[in-house]
Amino acid sequence: MEIRLMEDSLGDDEFYAVIQCLKSGKYTQGETVEKFEKRFAEWNGSKYAVMVNSGSSANLLMAYMLKQRYGLKDGDEVLVPSVTWPTTVYPIIQHNLVPVFCDVDDSFNISPESIKKMVSQKTKAIFAVHLLGQPAEIAAILRVCKENGLLLLEDCCESLGACIRSRKVGNFGLMGSFSFYFAHHITTIEGGMIVTDDRETYDMLKSARSHGWVRGSDREKLYPGMDKAFLFDMLGYNLRSTNLNASIGLVQLDKLDRFIAIRRESHAHFVSKMRQTGLRIQKVDITQTSSFAFAVICNDRAHKEITMSWLRKNGVEVRPIVAGNLLNQPVFKSSNFRRDKLANADIIDACGFYFGNNHTMTPQKIDYAVSLIMNCPKD
Ligand SMILES: Cc1ncc(COP(=O)(O)O)c(C=O)c1O
Repeated sequence: MEIRLMEDSLGDDEFYAVIQCLKSGKYTQGETVEKFEKRFAEWNGSKYAVMVNSGSSANLLMAYMLKQRYGLKDGDEVLVPSVTWPTTVYPIIQHNLVPVFCDVDDSFNISPESIKKMVSQKTKAIFAVHLLGQPAEIAAILRVCKENGLLLLEDCCESLGACIRSRKVGNFGLMGSFSFYFAHHITTIEGGMIVTDDRETYDMLKSARSHGWVRGSDREKLYPGMDKAFLFDMLGYNLRSTNLNASIGLVQLDKLDRFIAIRRESHAHFVSKMRQTGLRIQKVDITQTSSFAFAVICNDRAHKEITMSWLRKNGVEVRPIVAGNLLNQPVFKSSNFRRDKLANADIIDACGFYFGNNHTMTPQKIDYAVSLIMNCPKD
């Protein structure tokens, strides 16, 4: 039996949509992108959505907005979890802000205790990540935000459709980012989205993803008598996606509820099966999760290495938990940051691995993987 980290979810419906888009001759960002944005916002319970070409680009624009729209200054601090994908943190550094690495809790998400410990006079925002489909402790995080006047961003790139009391992630902070990379809940091959309920942020995000131009924005009225088509009033990037990608996204969106239900059911099966092993797994609330993967914590590093190679040898693709403790990555060695003691992140780094959840998962595949974990040779 084979269990792969990524499974293709594109089929005839997506191929047909792409061909229709190609035949229309309207390839670049246009009406199809707008339609996908509207339907995505509706599905997520958000007021506005802005499509970009990746989840990383979404994070880049959100960090940019912290300065451009919300007044953060060079050297201000942003609290981040130490276990996440590097491109949650890069945009903070790239915008001359200072990341403060907090430890994670049993759900592998940023620990409210660590947040409370690390808040300083310079702290202006928290960039919470909902890791592997499980929402972070948002109620506790929002309390700290309120007590300390902090802004909240959410990285939902691994948690599309995860809920906290029926409200979908991405709706608790100023903005939330999503990824439609191939292995994610839905895919546009590459792609991302930002949601926000703030009209001005939405307006600026649209310009910032597209060279900083005024065209199509609420700010057109600020420039009476001028040609808006080639008018630029803020620094921007080109992080646009295309109608081709959005046409895939529209078809995928119709499948999303079904995909999430399969993933959730599979995760419940995984949790019940893993009880036999006595090993620790990510703490997940099945009613809230939009499961991304099955994460396991082994007894120690040697046990992890033996188990991972045993699983690989027997057809199960496995990988580290996201990027481990980010501060063990060489890329941050020369960065300016503050950090808590990262005890849980270190355990995840040393002892953790995951195999992927997706719409093709079955109880038989999970039983197979768990029986391999249980019957793994000692050396
Ligand atoms: C938590 C998190 N943030 C951001 C990203 C970046 O998304 P993308 O690969 O679409 O750039 C990822 C990618 O998987 C992620 O897991």
